[in-house]
Amino acid sequence: MVELGPGDSLGIGLAALLSSVERYIALDVVRYANDTTNLRIFDELVALFKARAPIPDNAEFPLLQPPLPSYAFPADVLAPARLEVALHPNRLELIRAAITDPAITAHETGPLAYIAPWKPGVIETGSVDLVLSQSALEYPPDLAGLYSEMCRWLKPGGVLSHEIDFKSLGLTVEWNGHWSCSDALWRLTAGRRRFELNREPHSTHILLIERAGCRVVCDERIVRPSEITRAQLTPRFRKLTDQDLTTSSALIQAVRPA
Ligand SMILES: C[S@@+](CC[C@H](N)C(=O)[O-])C[C@H]1O[C@@H](n2cnc3c(N)ncnc32)[C@H](O)[C@@H]1O
Repeated sequence: MVELGPGDSLGIGLAALLSSVERYIALDVVRYANDTTNLRIFDELVALFKARAPIPDNAEFPLLQPPLPSYAFPADVLAPARLEVALHPNRLELIRAAITDPAITAHETGPLAYIAPWKPGVIETGSVDLVLSQSALEYPPDLAGLYSEMCRWLKPGGVLSHEIDFKSLGLTVEWNGHWSCSDALWRLTAGRRRFELNREPHSTHILLIERAGCRVVCDERIVRPSEITRAQLTPRFRKLTDQDLTTSSALIQAVRPA
């Protein structure tokens, strides 16, 4: 499994390893996560998995998307036999050791690789079952290149799963006010932030996934009334569809055909 943009912890990947994913590769532009935080999170996750604890719900994380139909421990997928192997003490030790000394290229062996900064070409063609991101794809400027790279990594039948936030993230008063800013004004608004939002709407992602040769199988949009009028849209975004204008986030999943 590959995650793009894990940010300040590798928690998603550590949970994936405890769910019996063989190998997790984290790709980020900056190495934000540190060993101390990762080890603390890992130990907490191990305790939660051992206790078959329910998934934290939207009372605990009210802003987290997407909402799930059930927050019960997924005992049907993580059956006792699978968990016994995944949580074997020797395996937990191996993962702990990898957290403090992760591989820094995809070619090395071991359960964990953390590559930051990463460059296209780091992952072999047809070698990955799942490429996942959470609140990361609203940033990269070259989405076309990135989607074609991600689809190339997938094995036939492999899956892309991306939760994408289309909001202006507080940079404008209106949640979708970023689509009313000219490029010059946007650069001023974004100021000295390290990463600029790419401002691409939902339909761009769907189009680029399909162009890259994957088939969209899930598209769960969170809809929110637009807080700007069509007349306020800057020329670059004049052609935004009504659906784009009201999609504040989405979980998009796609499959590379066999
Ligand atoms: C808002 S943070 C989200 C972090 C984490 N996924 C979470 O949900 O808390 C966005 C992350 O995406 C990363 N990012 C931005 N552009 C990226 C790219 N081209 N490739 C990989 N990661 C990227 C940023 O460095 C940052 O870690």
